[in-house]
Amino acid sequence: MKKKTVVCVVGTRPEAIKMAPVIIALREKPCFDVKVLATGQHEAMLSQALGFFKIKEDHNLSIMRERQSLDHITASVLTGAGAYFDEVSPDAVLVHGDTTTTFASALAAFYRKIPVGHVEAGLRSGDMALPFPEEMNRVLADRITRWSFAPTPQARENLLREGTPDANIWVTGNTVIDALLFTVRNTKKPTTPELAPVLDGRPFLLATMHRRESWGRPLENVCAALADILEQNPHLHVVIPMHKNPAVREVIVGRLGDKPQVTLCDPLDYPDFVWCMNASQFILSDSGGVQEEATAIRKPVLILRSVTERPEAVEHGSGLLVGTDSDRIMDEASKLLRDPAYYAATGEKCAASPFGDGTAARKIADALEKNLLCGATHA
Ligand code: UD1
Ligand code: UDP
Repeated sequence: MKKKTVVCVVGTRPEAIKMAPVIIALREKPCFDVKVLATGQHEAMLSQALGFFKIKEDHNLSIMRERQSLDHITASVLTGAGAYFDEVSPDAVLVHGDTTTTFASALAAFYRKIPVGHVEAGLRSGDMALPFPEEMNRVLADRITRWSFAPTPQARENLLREGTPDANIWVTGNTVIDALLFTVRNTKKPTTPELAPVLDGRPFLLATMHRRESWGRPLENVCAALADILEQNPHLHVVIPMHKNPAVREVIVGRLGDKPQVTLCDPLDYPDFVWCMNASQFILSDSGGVQEEATAIRKPVLILRSVTERPEAVEHGSGLLVGTDSDRIMDEASKLLRDPAYYAATGEKCAASPFGDGTAARKIADALEKNLLCGATHA
């Protein structure tokens, strides 16, 4: 039997982490010839994430530029992915999530009538400006998609409401939980030297920020809130693994760089970041993936956004939607730090993660096998 060629596209850190379990699961099936196309939308952060999972890309478009524009990413991924698809003639293309790599590579596949599988399909904030441009990217990718791998029943509902046929949707859980559980099993104490100040059991908060809509004033507000929290809690430390984006770094370094209670470092290897999430008092983040991971490790996360396309994290109790207003962040942080009952209600008593049990990648690989080999829909 001739193997089916599947190209898995990854461009940024979260795509690498969340697609890694899928690549591994597909490679376990002899019916697939799996190729990894890296667009290189992220350079260092992509290879860092792929490296942990021991995945080597088959081809890298290396498109990243400093302070790149959305036009640049879209145009270069569309052209580069299209040329790669022409070269390898895949039977299917898998894309992940909501980045510009996701949308542009799905479009390149569509232009060649190659069926697309969308991993993490169906997330919706309901506002095209939030997050920007991710909400539009995921809506457009979902229109192009043939096989929709929805992480939750809510994501499936979103797709059905927009007219996606039920037979084309699989509710699989989110592959980030697969990646996280694998990593937790293999995590040792961090080796990153910058984490030395928090390895002795000192209480600390973990913060990450990078969203485009938060550049400038919102990010400054978050930094001001962190500075106030530290002033009121002199025993506390904050660890901020800074995104490589200079637009983000300039603000964080400018506002918090001189504070002895703050550790600013480069993006952490995934296992060290997972260790930090686990060991922290709580997390502050505008990340999508971190909201999902926090539910599985039962850690409160202050979501630094006004809306989330992951309402399951808020319903679950670990996600607290606080936005970027300094007073609001201060209030929630103070409650978590001072009120053990409030803390327990948000973080420690939650049931299983709404984002799955770590079997999402296997479900996706099984569904793709049935569909590509037999043209079946649901089992
Ligand atoms: C991108 C995605 C966002 C995703 C995020 C994950 C888009 C439009 N945005 O946002 O959906 O949540 O990745 O982190 O698809 N840089 C480096 N080295 C790196 C990575 C980035 O120097 O390894 C710098 C470059 O100057 C680059 C800038 O960061 O131009 C911004 O990268 P970009 O991918 O455009 O946007 P992100 O904010 O990372
Ligand atoms: N992460 C990491 N190292 C870090 C910060 C984050 O490995 O220093 C992981 C995190 O655990 C999650 C993913 O990166 O799995 C989230 O990526 P990001 O916040 O960049 O993107 P988003 O999820 O918002 O699209």
